[in-house]
This record gives sequence, structure tokens and C-alpha cells, in this order.
Amino acid sequence: MMLGGNTVLITGGATGIGFAIAERFAKLGNTVIICGRRQEKLDEARKKIPELNIKKCDIASESGRKELYDWISKDFPGLSVLVNNAGIQRSIDFRKGMGDLLNNEDEIEINLKSQVYMSALFMPLLMKQKESAIINVGSGLGFVPLAIFPIYCATKAAIHSFTMSLRHQLRDTSVKVFEVIPPTVHDTELKGKPFPKTDYSITAAEMADAVVKGFEADRYEISAGPSGGWLTASKSDLDKAFHEINH
Ligand SMILES: NC(=O)c1ccc[n+]([C@@H]2O[C@H](COP(=O)([O-])OP(=O)(O)OC[C@H]3O[C@@H](n4cnc5c(N)ncnc54)[C@H](OP(=O)(O)O)[C@@H]3O)[C@@H](O)[C@H]2O)c1
Repeated sequence: MMLGGNTVLITGGATGIGFAIAERFAKLGNTVIICGRRQEKLDEARKKIPELNIKKCDIASESGRKELYDWISKDFPGLSVLVNNAGIQRSIDFRKGMGDLLNNEDEIEINLKSQVYMSALFMPLLMKQKESAIINVGSGLGFVPLAIFPIYCATKAAIHSFTMSLRHQLRDTSVKVFEVIPPTVHDTELKGKPFPKTDYSITAAEMADAVVKGFEADRYEISAGPSGGWLTASKSDLDKAFHEINH
């Protein structure tokens, strides 16, 4: 993919990995639009990068997605890259029955259904462009689940499967389909606050650098750090990793 001259929409682009990707794409001469639910985070992001276009939007709501689509197709009809990055992560203890499930935001809605619906909704616009892309943000935990986040990991495994099918369906179109598979990225808000750096974690900036490199090289599965090995690991290696991370 060309690194400049695109019009890029990044869901959840005001913080963390999404913001680091926005920063890089803006510097490379792309028009960048970010969306998220919290206006103050969008304002903070634009203070840091004044050329960002911002839109308050809950992508888990059908009307939110439709409003975003209507605005973009009118004001940014050249949209050529959709980065499905928005996501949440919750610990859910099934020993409590319905308790944690009901007390948490719906990860299936935000992490899975929204990415699927955003891809379908924006497809006609993306298919109009000479060259375009969808970048779905999955996770290494889609390959090796961390059991305290059971729904999160399941949504990311589903994103991997969905992205493979989408890439195959779109193989004869102008739309290239990428999956970003981060390991632990310690300096983001995913768990409410940044978490401690470990030997197995990287920064959002390092992840975004890998995204830019992979995007330029048309490498459709983009990883960095330890999750890279999980993409090609054997079943017994994945089982071993499962026991290690859940110890
Ligand atoms: N950090 C890691 O270790 C890690 C590892 C693997 C994969 N990932 C994936 O990377 C992506 C980005 O996460 P991050 O680590 O950068 O965490 P983050 O800083 O919390 O970013 C998530 C972003 O998504 C937005 N968002 C959440 N729900 C939304 C909704 N319904 N509508 C619109 N925007 C929404 C949030 O903004 P609002 O709350 O303001 O809406 C936030 O800006 C996620 O898909 C995550 O699963 C992260």
C-alpha cells in the first residue's frame, strides 16, 4: 500500500495504539480521521496533532455508525483506509454466573460486531477507490487466550477468522485486508490505566511502527514482539504458551 495520500479512518484513534497509528499516518501525508466516545480524548488528540479530523461516535451503536458513515461519505468520499481498532477488555469470572457479564460493557458488541458491521458499511466506499485497505486490530490473545479475559480473547480469535475470510472474499477487488496482531502493549488505556512494562510487552509507538512497515510491504498479518511467534506456532507450542501465561 502507498504510505501517503490516503484518507484514513481510525476507530478508537484518540488513545493508545490507534493514536500512535494516527500520528504516523498524519506525518506521512495522509488525511486522518479518528473517532471515539469521549470528546475530551478526541480534543486532547487534536491538540497534539492539529491536522486530525475528529468525530465523537460510539461504533457499537447502529445510529452512531450510520451518522459516521453519512458524514464521511459526504465530507471524505475518498476514504481509502478503515482501521478497525476500537476495543475494550474486561475480566469476567464465570464462577459468578451472570454477575460479571451483566456488570460489564459488551465486548462482543464492541470488539467483534462493530468491526464486522463497520467493514460491511464502509465497503462500497472503499471499493470505489483505486487502492484501499481494511486493517483489523486483533490480538496475540486471539491465538493463546488469557483465561481471565475469556470473552475478549474469544472476540480476537473471531476477528482473526473473520479477517481471513474477508481477505479471501476481497482478493479480486481493490481492497486489501490486513490484521494487526499486537502482543501486550503496556502504555495504553486498555485496562483502564497503563500497566507495568514486562519482557513480553512493547509500546504503542513500537506497534504503530510495525503497522506502517507491514502496510507498506503488503504484509497482511502484522505482529511485533512475542505475539509474532504465535502466528506460526504448533498446537503443542500454543498449548505450552497457554499454560505459561495462565500459570
Ligand atoms: N494494549 C494491549 O496490550 C493490546 C494488545 C493486543 C491488542 N490490543 C487491541 O488494540 C486496540 C486498541 O487498544 P489500546 O491498547 O490502544 O487501548 P485504548 O487506549 O483503550 O484504546 C481503545 C480505544 O477504543 C475506543 N473505543 C472503545 N469502545 C468504543 C466504541 N464503542 N466506539 C468508539 N470507540 C471506542 C476508546 O475510546 P473511548 O472509550 O473514548 O470510546 C479508546 O480510544 C484494541 O482493539 C485492543 O483490543 C491491545
